[in-house]
This record gives sequence, C-alpha cells and structure tokens, in this order.
Amino acid sequence: MNILFVGDIFGSAGRHIVREHLPHVMETNEVDLLVINGENAAGGFGITPSIAEEIFDMGAHVITTGNHIWDKKEIFEYMAVPADSHTRGRRVLRPANFAAGTPGFGVYQGELPTGQPYAVLNLQGRVFMSSCDDPFRMADALLAKLSAKVILVDFHGEATSEKVALGWYLDGRVTAVLGTHTHVPTADERLLHNGTAYQTDVGMCGAFDSVIGVETELVLHRFLTGMPGKFEPAKANPKMCATLIACNGATGRATAIQRIMLGE
Ligand SMILES: [Fe+2]
Ligand SMILES: [Fe+2]
Repeated sequence: MNILFVGDIFGSAGRHIVREHLPHVMETNEVDLLVINGENAAGGFGITPSIAEEIFDMGAHVITTGNHIWDKKEIFEYMAVPADSHTRGRRVLRPANFAAGTPGFGVYQGELPTGQPYAVLNLQGRVFMSSCDDPFRMADALLAKLSAKVILVDFHGEATSEKVALGWYLDGRVTAVLGTHTHVPTADERLLHNGTAYQTDVGMCGAFDSVIGVETELVLHRFLTGMPGKFEPAKANPKMCATLIACNGATGRATAIQRIMLGE
C-alpha cells in the first residue's frame, strides 16, 4: 500500500499549492492513506474547524499537528470527542506527549475502506521545544496498545539528533518516522535496517520566498531589533513538500520512501 504524508501546511499559500497538486499526486502514486500536518494551516498559526474540514475534504484521513495546535481556540471543542469515535474531530491529532488532560488525542487507529487497518501517532520533541513528556516512552506505551501493523509517526521536533534517535528507536516497530516542524525538508530519506522509513523533516507546504513561511521582512525586523511585531504568512514561491512511502499492508514494513517537492 502507498502512504502520502504532507508536511506542515502554512497559511493560504500552503493550502492553495496542496489543493493544486494533491489530486494528481494521489492518482499517479495510487495513494491509499493520506496524512497531512495542519498545525500552521490557519494563517500560519494553528488550525480552525473550517480549515480542518477543508483538509479532510481534500482526502486526508488524519491531520497531525504540533506546538501550534492551540493557537486557534475554536479547535479545542472540535477535538473534544470520545476516544472511541471516528469523527473528523477525533482524527485531528495533537502530540501524544502533551500534558495529560489536554483536549484531543495523539494517536488514532482506523481502517481504510478496503478494511486495511492503520494507525497514526503524533509526538513532539523536547530539545529546543516547550516542555512535554518523554516522546520515546510515550511511543512505547502507545504502540503496545495498537493492533494495526501500518503505523505512521509524525515526530514534530526541532533537533535533528532527537529525530534521528527516535527513528532508530522505533525501527522495525512502525512503518515510518517522519519529522515535521522545521519547515525545511531534509535529504536523508531512507529505509532503516528493520523496515522503518525515515526522514528527519518532510518540509512545509507554503511560500518558500519567506522565513519558514513568514514574510521575510517581518522576521528580519524581529532579528535585527528584538521588537515585537505581528507575523504574516508569505505568499511568494509556494511549494508543496511531501513524502511518499510504499509498504506491505500485512506486515507494515516499508519498502520505499520518496521525497516530493512541487511548485507552481
Ligand atoms: Fe509547523
Ligand atoms: Fe511546529
């Protein structure tokens, strides 16, 4: 089976470039499972229920997120659904190792229309990120409860070392460990020794003539003066970054990984 993972959608430029390319990428690669990181989909900061609906309408089975998940408070209620539900709200994930009691869930297990079981696990790193629980041990605890063999992990983190380490830690236990959050795609996609597909960062879907999605002048002003100012999403030179994984649906073992970057 084929899995497409789409990196952090950043603002309207990101949503437009994904809408433009996704149908063709899905069709030519015969994608069965589509997972999209939407943590920056609403103007660069968070995600609203209506934007989540828009991403599900594009065909996403699950939306993963990261540190920006709570930027738009409307999403709290959308995600506050029972653990055993399969609604769209249940399929918007926040990192599983956030503080206990926060709205929503960090793992989802479901079935494709073909009956193929799958699971998606969202974790956040602790190096150069705001504090959260141990992602390694949280992965152990959650994987022990999953029956699906096809398991995709979105590891939302800043430090390449922590992301590489989790890749090796989960090698052979999940289908893929894919990094998000830096918005810069890395060229290290590979199959690890025990059948897990790995990439440190998938990159973003958004304006590349920017500083990781934000208007360059605004970020330069922040660095040069240290003064506060509102960040606006950039528009120029949009690209869609995604990663395609082929795997054995029965064993969950990955057989190929391919990086994708498409522009206008
Ligand atoms: Fe992001
Ligand atoms: Fe992030």
